[in-house]
Amino acid sequence: MPIFGNGRRVAVVAGLRTPFTRSGTTMRTATAEDLGRAVVSELIARTGLDGRELDLLVFGTVIPNVLAPNIAREVSLIPSLPKSVQAWSVSRACASANQAITDAADQITLGHADVAIAGGAESLSNVPILHSRGFSDVLVAASKAKTLGARLGAFTKLRPRDFIPVTPAIAEASTGETMGQSAEKMAKINHIPRDEQDQFALRSHRLAAAGTQDGRLTAEIMPYYAPPKYEKWETSDNGIRTDTSPEQLAALKPVFDRKYGTVTAGNSSPLTDGAAAVILMSEEKARALGYKPIAYIKSYAYAALDPGEQLLQAPVLAAPVALKRAGLTLKDIDVVEMHEAFAAQVLCNLKGFESKQWAERAGYSAPVGTVDRSKLNVMGGSIAIGHPFGATGARIVTTLSNELHRRGAQFGMLTVCAAGGLGCVMILENAT
Ligand SMILES: CC(C)(COP(=O)(O)OP(=O)(O)OC[C@H]1O[C@@H](n2cnc3c(N)ncnc32)[C@H](O)[C@@H]1OP(=O)(O)O)[C@@H](O)C(=O)NCCC(=O)NCCS
Repeated sequence: MPIFGNGRRVAVVAGLRTPFTRSGTTMRTATAEDLGRAVVSELIARTGLDGRELDLLVFGTVIPNVLAPNIAREVSLIPSLPKSVQAWSVSRACASANQAITDAADQITLGHADVAIAGGAESLSNVPILHSRGFSDVLVAASKAKTLGARLGAFTKLRPRDFIPVTPAIAEASTGETMGQSAEKMAKINHIPRDEQDQFALRSHRLAAAGTQDGRLTAEIMPYYAPPKYEKWETSDNGIRTDTSPEQLAALKPVFDRKYGTVTAGNSSPLTDGAAAVILMSEEKARALGYKPIAYIKSYAYAALDPGEQLLQAPVLAAPVALKRAGLTLKDIDVVEMHEAFAAQVLCNLKGFESKQWAERAGYSAPVGTVDRSKLNVMGGSIAIGHPFGATGARIVTTLSNELHRRGAQFGMLTVCAAGGLGCVMILENAT
């Protein structure tokens, strides 16, 4: 039964993103809140949306700023929006922007909202660095001390190891396994050789370079001037390597299993800063306000599996559910957009779609099927473009909507794998 078929149709009216830049480069001085505010302000300006029409704003982020944990509210306080806009933040690891978009879409379907902005932002240049437990205990004790002597006394308890800061790792809290180690494990289980991973990474760079060169990708990107001096700017993604080659990729050493591994810096997505957002409206409201929708959200599904198993394989479980909810099969899908955390993960997901065992695990008798590579990530993906965790889902929804329109194609499917063993699949329909 199509989820959105019973309710009001939800239209993607427009989407936009900042350039995606490698962490520590041009946008390193911007926080995730800065990036989110910039993209939402520009999206409103470009579409001419009257801020008073906006009911709600949902934003995703993975590593939140502890001083501003509700990033959505910080973003919604821009001058072009009234303070009465509802704003909340969501976290579903790398599918956080998808969660923001489907939350907003649900509100529209239910009739609780007509106009929403949803997206996400991440600044991996600005991850919080924490004090150790020992240092924190001393600071708390010192703050409670009633005399100067007691305060100074608290500091005498510090030991050298207490000065070692704690940085968030891109690792599972439950298993301790990093994303890269999980990708490596999946490559081994599913027999994905190194050269296939490198070829896929090369394809990502070449297609993203072509999309940048001919303006298809840059049309979705606003120029970003980095605070505080606004002297440095970026107009396109700075991780796309126009000059990479099979030989260069083959020469890179494995990072996560140095001895027997196949996952390298070349076939992984890089740590990235960026933000992306979409405007969603009920079909009726879009018509009433004179907007031409680009796509409709036809269905979506989330799935989860044991993070200790194959961490990034949950899209394989979500895809048959999303397709069924849309009343479609893979044969009906004209364009497929898959988040590329690692080339190994995409290739494992593709194998999973073809597997009867994975279909049965999801409760279906037949596999999803073989994805036609000529329809897959036609302007590259996260390996080349970059992957600001909280923002990627909104980038992909924007790109897929625009690509369906450009091709005059009808249906598109997007998949995002996420930490925690989570996965998201959405089905979009061309509205133009
Ligand atoms: C893999 C990873 C550890 C690499 O980090 P890094 O070492 O800082 O990466 P770099 O960009 O510096 O690349 C390392 C080297 O490979 C080279 N390289 C990377 N990609 C290349 C390519 N496509 N072609 C040629 N050379 C390449 C770089 O030039 C660099 O060379 P140098 O050391 O001579 O300067 C990091 O990107 C990472 O952790 N990625 C995964 C992120 C993740 O887990 N995301 C979650 C997914 S959901």
